[in-house]
Parts: sequence; C-alpha cells; structure tokens
Amino acid sequence: MNILKHLIYPPVTMSDEKLRKCFAGKWVVITGASSGIGEALTLRLISVQANLYLIARNEEKLMTLCHKAKNNGCKADYCAIDLRQRDQLAILCSKLREQLPSVSYLFCNAGKSINRAINDSIDRMHDFDRTMDLNYRSAVALSLALIPALKKTWGRIVYTSSVSSLFSTFPGWSAYHASKCAANVWFRTARKEYKKLQVKMQIAYMPLVHTPMSDKNKRYKDLPAYSADEGACILLRLAMSKKPSYKPWWTLGI
Ligand SMILES: NC(=O)c1ccc[n+]([C@@H]2O[C@H](COP(=O)([O-])OP(=O)(O)OC[C@H]3O[C@@H](n4cnc5c(N)ncnc54)[C@H](OP(=O)(O)O)[C@@H]3O)[C@@H](O)[C@H]2O)c1
Repeated sequence: MNILKHLIYPPVTMSDEKLRKCFAGKWVVITGASSGIGEALTLRLISVQANLYLIARNEEKLMTLCHKAKNNGCKADYCAIDLRQRDQLAILCSKLREQLPSVSYLFCNAGKSINRAINDSIDRMHDFDRTMDLNYRSAVALSLALIPALKKTWGRIVYTSSVSSLFSTFPGWSAYHASKCAANVWFRTARKEYKKLQVKMQIAYMPLVHTPMSDKNKRYKDLPAYSADEGACILLRLAMSKKPSYKPWWTLGI
C-alpha cells in the first residue's frame, strides 16, 4: 500500500523559507478556509506571516484562525458566509473591493461534492443549483470583485478543481463535475484574456485528499491519498510557479 501511495501520490513538501519569501506581508484571500485543504493552507500561510482574509460558513473556526494569525504577526479578517446566497455574496464582493484595495492571491477553494445518480436526482434540482452556485458562481463573482485589486500586484487566482473533472462523464458525479468543468472553462478563458493584463489564473486539478469532504464517502476513506497539508502545498507550489495548472503525473497530460 505504501509503495502504491508513493507512486500515485509522490510526497509534496514546501519549506517555510520559500513560502515566507513569496507570501510574507502579502494579502491572500482564501475561500473554504475553515476545513480540509483550505484550513491547512491558512495554517501554512499564518506560519509565514501572510495577511489573510478568510471565507467560509463556520464563524467559530474562522475566528479561531484569525486569532491565531494575529498572534503570529499577520493582519487578518474573515467573513462567515454561505457563498451560495447571492445577496450575501454581492455584499461580500462590495466589502472586499472597499476593504482590500490591493491583493496578491485569491485561492478559490470552497467547494462541495455530490455523488448521486441522475435517476436518484429527479426531485433534487437543488443539488445542481447548489453545486453550481458554490463551485462555479461564487468563484467567478469573487474573481470579478478582486481582479482590480489583483492587477495592482500582478496577482494570481488559484482555483481548486478536481482531477476527476478531467474525466468528467463519470456516472454519479454529474452535479459536481458539471460545476467544476464550468469553472475550469471560465478560468482557462480568463487566463487567456488576462495574459497581458497583470493577473495570472491557475487551476489545481486535485487528486484525492483526505479531508472531511472526501472521508464522508466510505469508498475513499481507506484509499491512499494526499493529506490536507500536502493538498495545501500543491496549491502553494502552483501559486509560486509559472505553470498554468497542476495535474497529477498519471493524468499523462490529458
Ligand atoms: N478532498 C478531495 O479529495 C478533493 C479532491 C479534488 C478537489 N477537491 C476540492 O478541494 C476543495 C476543498 O475541499 P476539501 O476536500 O478541503 O473539503 P472540506 O474539508 O469539506 O472543505 C470545504 C470548504 O468549503 C467550505 N464551504 C462549503 N460549502 C460552503 C458554502 N456554502 N459557503 C461557504 N463555504 C463553503 C467549507 O466551510 P464551511 O463548511 O465552514 O462553510 C470548507 O471550508 C473543494 O473545492 C473540493 O471540491 C477536494
């Protein structure tokens, strides 16, 4: 099992020294900061004194992380919000425009996965609306809100997608994959449009990572996978590189 894990999930590390050079004192906005990959990302950035604006629903968790960040010399703020709620999202977008005139990184990481066959979804249109609103619409809205602030620093947007969206017609995953694929296309298009306009768009096609989201699915809980911290390191390495995307080696360039 260990050999398999190392083959499919070669270890990913990141030194604090390299991180500090890139992120210390810079404003970083993170969605989905309260759990899993986003929380691990937040903890990494706290340890190198980045300034953080954290977004998710769990207010208690965000408050604790902000407290930790401030104790470690970072500037930090948060917004507890359900990103699927369009009115609340519009208010957050205006607030961010006012509060953060210059931003270096936006990690669009909040996400929800649903594994349900279409035939079991006949009365569940809300599954398709909710995944689309969170995984696609909120990422676009926050990107539009922050692009002016990102332009000022030649900043970056990193979208946490899924490697499975590269094999997007997998049965049971229509809601999740459709929303991730919509975002993939938006960010790939934005990357072309913004090539000469000071904002870089990057996509991490993330493989399996053990987090509260993936561990809910019993089939995945015992499979080899990256840890949340390794998932965070994948995002950070991508954000520090010139690459347009991260894909596991075994996708063989799909
Ligand atoms: N884990 C994997 O194997 C895997 C693989 C491929 C891609 N991904 C992607 O990685 C990203 C992070 O997922 P994770 O695995 O770290 O899962 P996680 O531990 O469940 O974290 C998901 C994050 O999204 C936030 N979130 C969920 N619904 C939200 C809503 N309606 N409004 C605002 N925030 C919301 C959650 O915070 P609150 O609950 O506090 O709102 C949490 O911080 C997702 O985009 C996921 O699709 C994960």
